[in-house]
Amino acid sequence: MSAGTAATAAYIVAALLTVMSLAGLSRHETARAGVAYGIAGMAVALVATVVLAAESLTAGAIALLAVAMVVGGGIGLWRARVVEMTGMPELIALLHSFVGLAAVLVGWNGYLEVEAEGAAQTTVAPELVGIHSVEVGIGVFIGAVTFTGSLVAYGKLSGRMKSRPLTLPGKNALNLGALVAFAALTVAFTVTPSLGLMIAITAVALALGWHLVASIGGGDMPVVVSMLNSYSGWAAAASGFLLDNTLLIVTGALVGSSGAYLSYVMCQAMNRSFLSVIAGGFGVESGTASSGTEEGEHREVDADAVAEMLAEASSVVIVPGYGMAVAQAQYPVADLTRRLVERGIEVRFGIHPVAGRLPGHMNVLLAEAKVPYDVVLEMDEINDDLASTSVVLVIGANDTVNPAAMEDPGSPIAGMPVLRVWEAKNVVVFKRSMAVGYAGVQNPLFFRANTSMIFGDAKARVEDILKAL
Ligand code: TAP
Repeated sequence: MSAGTAATAAYIVAALLTVMSLAGLSRHETARAGVAYGIAGMAVALVATVVLAAESLTAGAIALLAVAMVVGGGIGLWRARVVEMTGMPELIALLHSFVGLAAVLVGWNGYLEVEAEGAAQTTVAPELVGIHSVEVGIGVFIGAVTFTGSLVAYGKLSGRMKSRPLTLPGKNALNLGALVAFAALTVAFTVTPSLGLMIAITAVALALGWHLVASIGGGDMPVVVSMLNSYSGWAAAASGFLLDNTLLIVTGALVGSSGAYLSYVMCQAMNRSFLSVIAGGFGVESGTASSGTEEGEHREVDADAVAEMLAEASSVVIVPGYGMAVAQAQYPVADLTRRLVERGIEVRFGIHPVAGRLPGHMNVLLAEAKVPYDVVLEMDEINDDLASTSVVLVIGANDTVNPAAMEDPGSPIAGMPVLRVWEAKNVVVFKRSMAVGYAGVQNPLFFRANTSMIFGDAKARVEDILKAL
């Protein structure tokens, strides 16, 4: 068997391992195995690709490849080891941008090898150059949109850019115009390929990717990240066509379609229109977004007052959010839960689908602190019980408990389902200041008559309450 045939067989194994990885990742119990299949699939693919490449490469080129793999792999290992759980989404967004950039480079390489050099110099048959040009145009377009879109997502998630949506006048017309321009430029490029048209396609796509994600508000970022995940898959598949690499086409399509489905499911959970999000907030008109201003006075309490309130409660619901992760408050929160249960108080948790910064973030933290699964409920399971709850402790959550989502149609988070904590008898909000949450909107909950604010680091405040109880 030739090295080429063996590598092709290895590609089939790698593709199957990728399918098994996706299947494994869909359930808690099999997620670890899913990760292992993914690593194995990627390792098989890498080895097979190097073996295939070695057939046509010089020793110097193979040495360069090895250096690139060692340096890239080393940086990847280091980043993955040091990244905080709260920094995962931004790291993922950055990695998506690399896939997009790689697709742009593969497209440019394809152009320089075939269209710029003339088909006679390459393995592409002259009658197929038109198809090659379409592949180049589409590959560069998807790659460039993914590249700048992911960089903007990285900026918003890491706090380097404002998370509020950019609302340029006529933004929908701008997006549509960019799509029409891309189609026209690609047709022209297919008829007469030229450097100028290549630059124009790349520039339009880079601008569109940047604008699409900049137009989406902070609250919708979870959907955007999974959408960019999908785009990065399609960008890889487009590169697969250009490189004539079946594995890249198969795995790219798998990532593209599973990412698209995840975005769809998240849109449903967030009550967002899928089409609106992929079209960069289509339907959210310029200037309608209001951030809300502080309304009235807030009431501040100390740990002793909260301990007293809890001691008299018959039922308590704890609603954790991103601030609990920042403070690493899950351990004292678990201790508080045990202490209250010992006193005969019913304690449950209410988890919003996008609390924190990644899907399942709160569930992972609470499991880490050994909070029993059966008291950790989804938003829909707990929402109707909140009105009959004595005390709700909102620990570092903000957007996910914001009544403006239900009451202010001009709010950037309007329509997003939230935990209706304000219906409880008493609400205590743990945070360090009156600052806004991730979506950048003020929270009227803080000014309600039944809400008390306890300021400071959530971990320290929960420990103070434990001492006072
Ligand atoms: P956020 O709206 O992000 O608010 C977190 C709050 O925690 C802030 O208001 C902050 O107020 C407080 N906080 C931060 N550090 C703290 C500390 N050490 N001690 C006490 N409080 C602290 O939280 P959320 O309700 O969980 O909402 C999540 C948001 O992130 C949503 O808008 C969601 O769309 C977005 N998002 C989610 C995901 C996923 S998949 N979950 C991914 C990307 C974005 P202070 O600064 O005043 O303390």
